[in-house]
Amino acid sequence: MLKVLNIAGARPNFMKVAPIYAEMKRRPEEFVPMIVHTGQHYDAAMSDSFFDDLGMPKPDVYLGVGSGSHAVQTAKIMTEFEPVVLREKPDWVLVVGDVNSTIACALVCAKLGIKVAHVEAGLRSRDRAMPEEINRILTDSISDLLFTTSQDADVNLEREGIPAERVRFVGNVMIDSLMDHLKIAENSTVRGDLGVDGRDYAVLTLHRPSNVDDKGTLSGILDALIAVAEKLPIVFPVHPRTRAKIEEFGFGARIAGSDIRLIDPLGYLDFMRLYSGAKMVMTDSGGLQEETTVLGIPCLTLRNNTERPITIEMGTNILVGTDPEKIKRAAFNVLENKAAAVAAKIPPLWDGKTAGRICDELLEPPA
Ligand code: UD1
Repeated sequence: MLKVLNIAGARPNFMKVAPIYAEMKRRPEEFVPMIVHTGQHYDAAMSDSFFDDLGMPKPDVYLGVGSGSHAVQTAKIMTEFEPVVLREKPDWVLVVGDVNSTIACALVCAKLGIKVAHVEAGLRSRDRAMPEEINRILTDSISDLLFTTSQDADVNLEREGIPAERVRFVGNVMIDSLMDHLKIAENSTVRGDLGVDGRDYAVLTLHRPSNVDDKGTLSGILDALIAVAEKLPIVFPVHPRTRAKIEEFGFGARIAGSDIRLIDPLGYLDFMRLYSGAKMVMTDSGGLQEETTVLGIPCLTLRNNTERPITIEMGTNILVGTDPEKIKRAAFNVLENKAAAVAAKIPPLWDGKTAGRICDELLEPPA
């Protein structure tokens, strides 16, 4: 029987941990799973509502670290997590994604000789200015078992000298969550509540420091989006970081005069219901590039690179960067092509069964 600590820290972690935890709970002769929430994200809208929507129990351990600079936040997670590992003596610690909680907990385990498995390993944007890229590279280099979502990730890991026997291509566990909840999300009233039911609209998310922390960059992106909104209304659930920057830079009035509708961050089910009905998604998120791929929704990625090239290969995702003219041109192209919805092409092993494969592999680790 394997005791596994599943680490959940920030919003994009929760939908990856949920199906793995549920699968472990279904196999009580093989697994004793626990959830450790670092508290990197702590607002009800960024955390608790996801646990509710995903049917996850309250975390077994809550570290309550909160916000801070990268060094402070990472260090706090490490100091709070170390005694938990020493007390619980898990057989495995499972970290997901690329947030500060991922590297912090992996590093604690590597130093204590506790085995770490990394879910969503091998993704590379090749942009080291992105904090997540540093987290990915470091976490992969110290993990004992690396679960990949696509085969380009296997190639990246091979190039970095990670032994092949540690790498297991299992597919995308976030898509397990998507498939499990798509039907349930139909009960959400969010489209009606926002007055977009049965109408054409776009969904926008924006929270990368590189896009929102610099006044000039954010201003340019907003110019483009305001022009796009003249043709297609945009619903914009705003991340707390972005909300703060919009206020700091005094952009509120400009947005209020446009057809961009700012709303608070949505829970998992409401957000799924919202984007799944969108004509187009514009985002700098990683997960949304993948979710739109599976649903066949055109996605404009407002970044110069992506660690998820398979989403481009499948045909739904277009990298448009942050140049206002390029954003406008790409958006108008999607809108003019009335057959915008691309037939959903689903990447290999994004089949809703990844959690099962992860559990099977944990039972057969490398020698
Ligand atoms: C983190 C992840 C990022 C992920 C994103 C999803 C890292 C390095 N980055 O970025 O990869 O895409 O989460 O949201 O781990 N805040 C709140 N309430 C919260 C959480 C944050 O108000 O519950 C505010 C705080 O002012 C905080 C800021 O948002 O300083 C940034 O939060 P932080 O966790 O540092 O990084 P994110 O930008 O959310």
